[in-house]
Amino acid sequence: MLKVSAPGKCILLGEHAVVYGHPALAVSIDMRLEINIKKLSSKSEYHMIEGKEIKRNHHPHIFDAINEIWGADSQKLAFEISSEIPTSAGLGSSAALSVAISMGLVTLKNEKIDLEKISSIAHKLEADSQGGLASPMDSSTSTHGGCILLANEKLGKNWLYSRTLNNKKWEIHSFELHQNIKDVAIVIGNTGIHGSTGDLVKGVKKRLEENPKLIQDIEAINALTALGVNAIEQGDVETLGAVMNLNHTHLQNIGVSCKELDDLVSAARETALGAKLTGAGGGGCMIALSKNPKQTARDIELAGGRSYICKFGVEGVKIEDSMID
Ligand code: PMV
Repeated sequence: MLKVSAPGKCILLGEHAVVYGHPALAVSIDMRLEINIKKLSSKSEYHMIEGKEIKRNHHPHIFDAINEIWGADSQKLAFEISSEIPTSAGLGSSAALSVAISMGLVTLKNEKIDLEKISSIAHKLEADSQGGLASPMDSSTSTHGGCILLANEKLGKNWLYSRTLNNKKWEIHSFELHQNIKDVAIVIGNTGIHGSTGDLVKGVKKRLEENPKLIQDIEAINALTALGVNAIEQGDVETLGAVMNLNHTHLQNIGVSCKELDDLVSAARETALGAKLTGAGGGGCMIALSKNPKQTARDIELAGGRSYICKFGVEGVKIEDSMID
């Protein structure tokens, strides 16, 4: 049995603007997905998940990963998945699955582990299952862990590699988190509503076509992300919180927040340094940067959300157990 785990993520700044080539910043969180992989006997005809045959319409990431990495005709495998990451909530559960399975299959094939390659395969799996549209934000954060900045140009010492997909290019950077940032908590508030990333991204595009002035909000998010990166490097948590608050206003302006998210954001701000929606919006989760995580979590719960005080900047994908039979 081979056991691999990979973390979820939350976007601190820059969602939606990243679709228009601007930077975005994400951190890994201590909610993990774990995948167990076992080789089946030579008599087995199918790859199995939780005792059932794997079919592409039910498990596109796993089906494609097997074809891409393991080879369709190779020895059959059995998979079991357990996850702490809520699905369709903007916390990167499908990327964690893509990353964990890529790492697992590459390990099982005895190939050299190269994290750039793992994140590249996982990004492609994500894009293929989302009709070609996916930034490498989630897959690179889940692979490397820590704090990841996606930008459209190389920004000096923190640069890791470039990633190209369907004529789009991203520069991936990895940031050390300043101790001051590590000392505050991120409190996640889940509305329990599922937002569709694809629909929300399309909605922003439509509104921008109808009202070109909204590009000012996208540009403002770009400027705020730059301020946020600076604040993270300096360990300036107050500025980071203020920048998150402003970022949320611009996300509201482009139409991706909703009453439930706004309610949780307002409630959290009573005790937090800053709060905003995270991910695509339209439901899903918000995050609050807080020095009083217990109070912030309580305020989120009182406003109707499910709260989670997370550790962030955690380790990326890792082999938990490599007892391969
Ligand atoms: O909700 P998530 O975790 O899928 O995040 C979406 C982030 C967007 O910027 C809205 C889309 C993207 O591809 O970056």
